Amino acid sequence: MYDFAPQHDLEKPELYSALSRAANALVEGEPDPVANMANLAALIWQFVPDLNWAGFYRVVPGTKGGELVLGPFIGKPACIRIPIGTGVCGTAAALGTTQVVADVHAFPGHIACDAESRSELVVPVMANGRVVAVIDLDSPRPGRFDEEDAKGMQLVAQVAAFAI
Ligand code: SME
Repeated sequence: MYDFAPQHDLEKPELYSALSRAANALVEGEPDPVANMANLAALIWQFVPDLNWAGFYRVVPGTKGGELVLGPFIGKPACIRIPIGTGVCGTAAALGTTQVVADVHAFPGHIACDAESRSELVVPVMANGRVVAVIDLDSPRPGRFDEEDAKGMQLVAQVAAFAI
């Protein structure tokens, strides 16, 4: 049994530091990428308050530079395939940069998977200089994510990079 006990009264840097330590412990010694993505999505859900969706999209090679395909997540069923360069996730994958979106309705091309989502944070997972996946967090609260959330989730993405 895993018994991680996130404290939600921590400041964000401490919260994400605890989350990334827990993430490291959770994936240590486990080579299966699906198991690790599933457990990481569950762990993020446990640690990060005010989310309505948390999970992975994987970069799958193909025509037109590839696409993102839905991976393990917590939340409502979501769109399965997203072209690279489209929506918040596809933009993060195309540019290799974190996207902090305070108001999803103001983001051109935003793909609505859950009508409750108001703000979004998407962090690329990089391996050998390439984007191999993105971690997507949605919140029903406008402006839920800031630079501290982005930095914190980048730590988690570094753990995911060698685990998926
Ligand atoms: N909103 C995302 C799509 C994924 S769902 O939020 C789970 C986007 O615009 O890429």
